[in-house]
Amino acid sequence: MVKIPLLDLQSQYEGMEQEVFQAIKGVYAHKLFVLGPEVKELEKEIASYSNTAYAVGVASGSDALLISLMALGIGGGDEVITTPYTFFATAGSISRLGAVPVFVDIDKRTYNISRHKLEERITSKTKAIIPVHLYGQCADMDIIMEISRKRNIPVIEDAAQAIGSEYVKNGFRKKAGSMGQLGCLSFFPTKNLGCMGDGGMILTGDAELAEKASVLRDHGIKPKYFHSLIGINSRLDTLQAAVLLVNLKYLDIWSEKRRKNAEIYNELFKANGLLDIITLPFTEFNNKHIYNQYVIRTKDRDNLKTFLKDKGIDSEIYYPIPLHLQECYRHLGYQRGDFPNAEQAARETLALPIYSKLTYQMQEKVVDTIKDFSP
Ligand SMILES: Cc1ncc(COP(=O)(O)O)c(C=O)c1O
Repeated sequence: MVKIPLLDLQSQYEGMEQEVFQAIKGVYAHKLFVLGPEVKELEKEIASYSNTAYAVGVASGSDALLISLMALGIGGGDEVITTPYTFFATAGSISRLGAVPVFVDIDKRTYNISRHKLEERITSKTKAIIPVHLYGQCADMDIIMEISRKRNIPVIEDAAQAIGSEYVKNGFRKKAGSMGQLGCLSFFPTKNLGCMGDGGMILTGDAELAEKASVLRDHGIKPKYFHSLIGINSRLDTLQAAVLLVNLKYLDIWSEKRRKNAEIYNELFKANGLLDIITLPFTEFNNKHIYNQYVIRTKDRDNLKTFLKDKGIDSEIYYPIPLHLQECYRHLGYQRGDFPNAEQAARETLALPIYSKLTYQMQEKVVDTIKDFSP
């Protein structure tokens, strides 16, 4: 039986060994393993790629969020508005600082935080808003930034899944992570730009916030052994930066291939008459989606997942329990039914393989198998 994994890094990195080994050798030669020259070079390259003035390399996407919140001075008792339908790190970073995540339901079609319900959740304690560009599609940034300006509340974009994704408004194209006061990237291996372990980056156009973030990622040291701030150890490894500099050259090719694969799936689902039982991913007209995940939705999701698995096809549920119903957030007092769109998405969404080296035949097999499953 031919197996189709959810992600195949083996095929993605095929033919790149020499380039990657060369980059690793370079680090071994100079031995500046922590915050070495490759980190600085990568920060420059990613800032330029994302159209931001500054970029600060950190140890993970989770730390990028944590340090961004720390740079804004967020702490005990503060409220931060975000989505309940995201990876845990978005809300976890808020809670780790003693602040409170305040959830707003998602848009049913894009799975991103709903612009309609956001403003009514703002109180005098609201100190930041964290929209998440879920699966690789930007949230409604024009409305969110308008609210941010009007109410003077900073925005941290969680762009962990969305590097290179674009929000298009009045002819301007804005890259994910470049619209809020701060933007956070993850280089976890499953992301469109992944490294060989953990890594992340903070983007900002604000010189003061950039300086603060870079001091906070290194124990608040400035200068050596003088601590102006209480920071953490969250430096991006030079080795990871060296690998990322190689991978960055391929990022747009990989993301374009994912976008093409998404189109092929859309056409195959339509051609096979499956649109009555499968809801396709929805892209807002003003978005360029980079498909970190291709997520369909169907009523009998759990049985479909098992059926696919039995036929050798991997799929994944991002995410089976929305954050407001997680055990660790019971004390926040949310109930089932509070965020119906997030709860429905948690019951019905399924991510299919979308990686860049997926072949047309594999996509046909995925769709044919879903057709076999359908009543
Ligand atoms: C939406 C979102 N936020 C934050 C993170 C955290 O990133 P990392 O795994 O690099 O810590 C992730 C990564 O999975 C994510 O998908």
